[in-house]
Amino acid sequence: MTKAEAQQELERLAQILDEANTAYHTADAPVMSDAEFDALKRRNAAIEAAFPDLKRADSPSDQVGAAPSEGFGKITHAIPMLSLGNAFADEDVTDFDDRIRKYLGFGRDDDLTYTAEPKIDGLSLSLRYEKGVLKYAATRGDGTTGENVTENARTIGDIPQEIADAPEILEVRGEVYMSHADFEALNDRIARENEAREQAGKRTLSKFANPRNAAAGSLRQLDPAITRDRPLRFFAYAWGALSAPLADTQWDAIQRLASFGFVVNDLTRACEGPEALIAHYRSIESQRATLGYDIDGVVYKVNRLDLQARLGFRATTPRWAVAHKFPAELAWTRLEGIDIQVGRTGALSPVARLTPVTVGGVVVSNATLHNEDYIEGRDSKGASIRGGKDIRVGDWVQVYRAGDVIPKVADVDLSKRPGDAVPYAFPTVCPECGSDAVREEGDAVRRCTGGMICPAQAIEKLKHFVSRKAFDIEGLGAKQVEQFYGDGWIRQPADIFDLEDRYGSGLQQLKNREGWGETSANNLFRAIADKREIALARLIFGLGIRHVGEVGARDLALHFQTWEAMATSVDEARPAALAHRAADMAEDAERQKAAEEGRRARIAETRAAAMAECDVSDAAMAAWQDLIGVDGIGATLGLSLSDAFANEDERAAFDRLVEKLTIIPPEAPAAESPVAGKTVVFTGTLEKMTRAEAKARAESLGAKVSGSVSGKTDLLVAGPGAGSKAKKAAELGVETIDEDAWLALIEGL
Ligand code: IVH
Repeated sequence: MTKAEAQQELERLAQILDEANTAYHTADAPVMSDAEFDALKRRNAAIEAAFPDLKRADSPSDQVGAAPSEGFGKITHAIPMLSLGNAFADEDVTDFDDRIRKYLGFGRDDDLTYTAEPKIDGLSLSLRYEKGVLKYAATRGDGTTGENVTENARTIGDIPQEIADAPEILEVRGEVYMSHADFEALNDRIARENEAREQAGKRTLSKFANPRNAAAGSLRQLDPAITRDRPLRFFAYAWGALSAPLADTQWDAIQRLASFGFVVNDLTRACEGPEALIAHYRSIESQRATLGYDIDGVVYKVNRLDLQARLGFRATTPRWAVAHKFPAELAWTRLEGIDIQVGRTGALSPVARLTPVTVGGVVVSNATLHNEDYIEGRDSKGASIRGGKDIRVGDWVQVYRAGDVIPKVADVDLSKRPGDAVPYAFPTVCPECGSDAVREEGDAVRRCTGGMICPAQAIEKLKHFVSRKAFDIEGLGAKQVEQFYGDGWIRQPADIFDLEDRYGSGLQQLKNREGWGETSANNLFRAIADKREIALARLIFGLGIRHVGEVGARDLALHFQTWEAMATSVDEARPAALAHRAADMAEDAERQKAAEEGRRARIAETRAAAMAECDVSDAAMAAWQDLIGVDGIGATLGLSLSDAFANEDERAAFDRLVEKLTIIPPEAPAAESPVAGKTVVFTGTLEKMTRAEAKARAESLGAKVSGSVSGKTDLLVAGPGAGSKAKKAAELGVETIDEDAWLALIEGL
């Protein structure tokens, strides 16, 4: 890099980092990930190190946070609120230890203890107490001057208003944050409030992107009543001005803060040397997903406060502490394209094709874009998300990965949008079959109307049909379904039961093709034949009707007992189902009109009028009421079931299938069953039945099957290899039996 290039690059970095800082600290709307921010800062520091005389007066290396926003009074911190240096790799941690030893003149073997504690992803706050009374609370701001948020801080339960036995002057520093549960609840509340606002024709509110933004947005409210209403919390981990020292060590000082009534983090540990620090880092990392609040690393601090004082500070960071960051679970990359996947129920799901990027240690090249509203920057209720920014092919997008869930595209950087990027046009025809793709009123999802003629829907339906909780056909998985569909051998579920007759000899001869041979083919035919006898609930579930899940299918089976009874009833209810839908539509129209006219909606009258217009027979009405009155059913499922049965192609496919099956009626929960109403847990290896089978059988006998042993467990069935659950059951005095005893218990039922 030439000197001129370096100068230019430093200018560019100063500008980008300044914008990012302002967005992060002032607008509570980050424009880049922490990882990217850190990377740019490191690049800036590296260039400055190579060209020291080019370091700018406004160098990002000397900046901590951004200037305070207007609206709050300003408070100058008695002692500046600093930032922390970062460590990323394990070697950075050993380097940290080496540097400190060198600085202090300590040898390899001299004792040097550190504390290690989670780095809370919230916003820092300084609380000043005088004579034990809270005088003010200030945000970090630019490190020197922050915002006076005293009234808001007073509403936080974790912050004591008064402290007994405190030094005359005590500044406590720590992090304001929001728990995951509270963050979810807050966003849910906003969603509900938006419904009301929508009805009243008011502007809707934006949801928060993450708990940090929610905490920042809540603390920096000009109206403390709003802050009071938001569940903020506070961890104390440091201090500012003091009239007397708190203790001799970091550890004891934290204990002292706890004794004053502050909440301190219980994952704080004292560690000797870098190995122990890294071990604790790994331990915290492994607990990250279950902590219930966001952390973004582990902070290491020299334990002895006299050594901290000797080590002192660099421009903006202490020498005695470092933040060992977790690999970012956020990253920015290019959106190369948007693919549309068609699901079992015809839903068109947009999938982002990304330039591969590492997100939290995993290479991500696809991410979900949810639905067309999400791409346009709206939630399903029309409220803006991401500040209303849409997502376009070619955009620079933020990818976000939370735990195991599918990564999603969270944000977009408008400053990097290519000039020729155009708004994404969501397809209105199915990309798989060319049928119209329509979006029904109130549905966030656009769906292919092709039904059985759509190959994507047909394949997904078949995969569902053979899946474990449905027909559970061994040897016929997703891969085989695709193969047979491609060959034209299986187009709908009934074809599976014709497979042997029609293609049996062919399949047995396909020796080396895609893994089939005589044995595997015969095994498959046996597995299929076994499933000609099927429980009614599995059949209903296996059809893959929208909204009919495993539980709904079981409820329907228990209620109707036979396929014929259900089919007859659903057919009979059809006119009433249509009337119900007409009434739903009339109700929606009335709500909207009422909102526009600023009056209350006349819902009952509107529905009654719409129903009356459809002129439904009493018998149809009774059948419909019977259907949607089934415990756990309801109108949404009822309508979907009714639509499926009324669709000619689908109905023909059901009828063809049912002809080939022997349907077993559900066993009514036997009142005399010794396990009825009991909570049963299975553990260890079961030798005479699969886990799924054992569960289904127990449930059919009226038992509740749970995955874990607790005080509520009545019976543990333990096979060989049972471990912690058996131990826990023994501790709790839960009756434990083996598989044979279980079979004997339920024998003949
Ligand atoms: S110690 C002089 N401990 O991280 C050092 N900071 O990047 C004072 N943070 O401004 C900070 N958890 O907002 C410390 N356990 C912790 C922390 C922590 C979160 C934040 C704090 C600080 C920033 C530095």
